[in-house]
Amino acid sequence: MLDNRPQLPPEIARRRTFAIIAHPDAGKTTLTEKFLLFGGAIQMAGQVRAKGEARRTRSDFMKMEQDRGISVSASAMSFDFGPYRFNLVDTPGHSDFSEDTYRTLTAVDAAIMVIDGAKGVESQTRKLFEVCRLRDLPILTFCNKMDREARDTFEIIDEIQENLAIDVVPASWPIGSGRDFIGTYDLLNDRLELMDRADRNRVAESVKIEGLDDPALGRHIPADALAKLRDEIEMARELLPAFDRKSFLEGHMTPIWFGSAINSFGVKELMQGIGEYGPQPQPQSAAERQIAPEEDRVAGFVFKVQANMDPKHRDRVAFVRLASGHFERGMKLLHVRSKKPMAVSNPVLFLAADRELAEEAWAGDIIGIPNHGQLRIGDALTEGEALRFTGIPSFAPELLQTVRAGDPMKAKHLEKALMQFAEEGAAKVFRPMIGSGFIVGVVGALQFDVLASRIEQEYGLPVRFEPSQFTSARWLSGPKDAVEKFAATNKQHMASDNDGDLVYLTRLQWDIDRVQRDQPELKLTATKEMM
Ligand code: G4P
Repeated sequence: MLDNRPQLPPEIARRRTFAIIAHPDAGKTTLTEKFLLFGGAIQMAGQVRAKGEARRTRSDFMKMEQDRGISVSASAMSFDFGPYRFNLVDTPGHSDFSEDTYRTLTAVDAAIMVIDGAKGVESQTRKLFEVCRLRDLPILTFCNKMDREARDTFEIIDEIQENLAIDVVPASWPIGSGRDFIGTYDLLNDRLELMDRADRNRVAESVKIEGLDDPALGRHIPADALAKLRDEIEMARELLPAFDRKSFLEGHMTPIWFGSAINSFGVKELMQGIGEYGPQPQPQSAAERQIAPEEDRVAGFVFKVQANMDPKHRDRVAFVRLASGHFERGMKLLHVRSKKPMAVSNPVLFLAADRELAEEAWAGDIIGIPNHGQLRIGDALTEGEALRFTGIPSFAPELLQTVRAGDPMKAKHLEKALMQFAEEGAAKVFRPMIGSGFIVGVVGALQFDVLASRIEQEYGLPVRFEPSQFTSARWLSGPKDAVEKFAATNKQHMASDNDGDLVYLTRLQWDIDRVQRDQPELKLTATKEMM
């Protein structure tokens, strides 16, 4: 992943499309809010996330999320920062939504990893990081909550290096900690950044310094803290590698900024860092070929579908990452899966608080396309070419339950609701070959609660989830005859998913191993590429 490709048109080159990943409570929401504030998308902190009962971000649409204080849905927000256009794609923070997060990360070119200065690398940080690594995404790190007692700076850096096996380069260095935290020394620009605790929405005072020997430093930092700072930076320069953009873009090195999101401190420097060093829109892979952002023709893929985002509209929005070209509103694009043209007349850009009609968009942007269910995860939209984007997987669910409508007369309604959630990618829905009803598969247990709550709220249909006799699902493929024969003799284990693909359900890993051993011509897989 390097920017040694042909020069991009300026409108594309200025785009930075990224996600923020964090363990719950590290400060992702607060940081997002400050990004929007400095990006001019909101006027006042608190607009996105108010305290108390209104506590939610604009991307938290569901009641469930407010109840549980987690972000279940993902959305994209666009805003300008200096010469750059940022597209920030929100990722759900809870571990139960890892599949959704994974798909979201297929739509971005970089990620910001937020860690809590007192806690360091936490379980969810590690999981999300691993997903980024699978895609070699460049990662920028923000060590938050430095206004509180934090760990020793070297210890934090070591922990990231050890735990995540990535080189860490300090972009800034904290001065003091907790109550004595004064600010940071910006190592990339030789500047002193001083934190203003009085006004949380104001940006820190910045003092231009001519290197660490500049006597001006003494006017702002107490002598003992200054001596410590000089020692530490000397040691850091000796022990830690220097910033290497190539290594960063390849995902081997992460620059780290220290700050305090709630105090708006260190946030602008981080934003500047994404702008200056972050990747431009990258080529995207399709089965047929690589799609370069500078190509004239528009191509993009759906990485997320969200239904009933706005209760007033009751619509479905497909989030599309534009891989190439210059999109203009009203364009007719080919919906590759159905081979039908689709006039995209009311695409939306998500400008923080409001949806806005997208008159145009460029490679790297995320647009929302309202639709009635035609668009599914993995779908390609192009100006005519039959492309199939790759790398958007569907995972075998780890938990299976049967679902029943409280009112048996409403079985049809239930089917409709389930199909919709399956298309959104919120669950896998299997229809067993024998018997009636549906088996629903998810990756994390909390998803069952979310589904039950949404089916009730959006369809007025109370449902019950009950344990299923199966615990694993595998997609079945192989020579047609062998597949048919296998299905016919194992009817009680067979089901079809919402795309009609055959699935083998079982209770025992042993069953899966046995099929693989005795019938090597058959393939049982835990992932399926969506398209
Ligand atoms: P998340 O989205 O990653 O889950 O984290 P979020 O931003 O909601 O922040 C979690 C908590 O940490 C919040 O406190 C928030 O105010 C606090 N926080 C965020 N950044 C900083 C920081 O730089 N310094 C300090 N000291 N705290 C920070 P809360 O008590 O859960 O909510 P609230 O009552 O403050 O709204």
